[in-house]
Amino acid sequence: MTSSNRRRVAWLLAAAGVLPPVAAGAQSLQPAGWDSGIRLAEAVDRNPDPDIVEVDFEAAVARVEIAPGVEVDAWTYNGTIPGPMIRVKVGDRLIVHFTNNLPRPSTIHWHGLRIPIDMDGVPGYSQDPVEPGDTFTYDFVVPDAGIYWYHPHVMSAAQVGFGLYGAFLVEDPSETETVGIADELVIVLSDIDLAEDGTLASPDTGGSVGMLFGREGNNVLVNGRRTPGLLARSGAPQRWRVINAAKSRYFMLDLGEGHAFRKIGGDGGLVEFSEDHEFLVLGAGERADVIVRPTGEPGSVRVLRSLLHDRGYGSTEFRDLEDLIEMTFADLPAHPVDTLPQTRREMEPYVLDGATEVSLELTVAQDPGDKSFSYGVNHVPFWQAQPVVARLGETQVWTVTNSTDWSHPLHLHGFFFMVLDEAGEPVRPLEWKDTVDIPHHRTVRLAVRFDERPGTWIFHCHVLDHAEGGLLSAVHLELPLEEFRNMLKH
Ligand code: C2O
Ligand code: CU
Ligand code: CU
Repeated sequence: MTSSNRRRVAWLLAAAGVLPPVAAGAQSLQPAGWDSGIRLAEAVDRNPDPDIVEVDFEAAVARVEIAPGVEVDAWTYNGTIPGPMIRVKVGDRLIVHFTNNLPRPSTIHWHGLRIPIDMDGVPGYSQDPVEPGDTFTYDFVVPDAGIYWYHPHVMSAAQVGFGLYGAFLVEDPSETETVGIADELVIVLSDIDLAEDGTLASPDTGGSVGMLFGREGNNVLVNGRRTPGLLARSGAPQRWRVINAAKSRYFMLDLGEGHAFRKIGGDGGLVEFSEDHEFLVLGAGERADVIVRPTGEPGSVRVLRSLLHDRGYGSTEFRDLEDLIEMTFADLPAHPVDTLPQTRREMEPYVLDGATEVSLELTVAQDPGDKSFSYGVNHVPFWQAQPVVARLGETQVWTVTNSTDWSHPLHLHGFFFMVLDEAGEPVRPLEWKDTVDIPHHRTVRLAVRFDERPGTWIFHCHVLDHAEGGLLSAVHLELPLEEFRNMLKH
């Protein structure tokens, strides 16, 4: 059936009161204004070309309200936290005119996007820092659909913690058919640390021990608010793209008994096939694309909570669950229960014969003199690191062993990878990842294929205190593999 025929049939069935399972959500099923308490502001495209999105971003301190009557002078993009959501179609060109009006240098890094190195936003590796009062233009073609995000890469624990981050949604228009759910939310999870007097807390509380643990903010935020509300129709499916933009915190989402998350996508677009999960765990930097179908009596409230997740020593004691979203059910008849879409994506597992083996150990050390701690990769912090060497087109298998007492969500810039199981085979459903949790005292293997974008690409723990405390290194990508092999022969 052609797609226009399929739409026509769907329309006829809908008109007859029979909804086919897949195209069921072409129209909103939610009450009017259902998401007005939570919807993100979007960046304004000032370019008339339908395939170019051109926006202005100004980083500056601005007063924001995180809960009724609770205001703080945060660090913002265009005056809001999160910053404006960027919405593009896959293949679009994005131009961002960035002005830094912060009291410190900054940059913008496009987390998860496979773009050229000079657009990656990392001082010392790919660009100079943008000094206060200066500007920089980011300009690139967006290669992959999925949910991504952006944030600075200068003093990132402090700057992200102060409010600098935003969602980056890359839409694939064909998903309107294949996923077919009109009611969508982009959910940015984060936290902010406020002092007693309500101002931003110092980003280095607790000195090197605070760094070792990874500081969390004392106010959990969902799209920049404490426990925002949502008005929902019982039984009607919603598609959520969830981003963990917190500087250290993990989230373990729970919608209550009988409420699964149907995961259809991860870091880098749709996964090989959808699968239901009772809980959804996101380490710092990770994303998920899920379908949920909350149910409840009209007027009752269902709460999306974050459960305690063990990310290592001291991370679960004396702590509470966090209420993230309060969903109130509208006074409407429940949406009839029909089946949620099952999605599929053609993906090939990497063939790993002949892949280069790389061993990485995530380590911690204490300075015998001043007793301060630092993290490292293979026992050296980033200021002494020797990059991993890779050739254009090379496939590598990384064996990452975490010898420390804390988990590390490890993030590689510029490339996707596949996580491998115990037997060394890619985990099914296949999923493109750019950030993966390496639990404390465990080993995770992953396979990465480097393409034709030479440069020095960093990888680091996305607990941003850990990255600044040493847990960061780089891949130096140069020369095509064939040329390199020929060179060795001579
Ligand atoms: Cu979110 Cu260096 O990255
Ligand atoms: Cu990144
Ligand atoms: Cu870490």
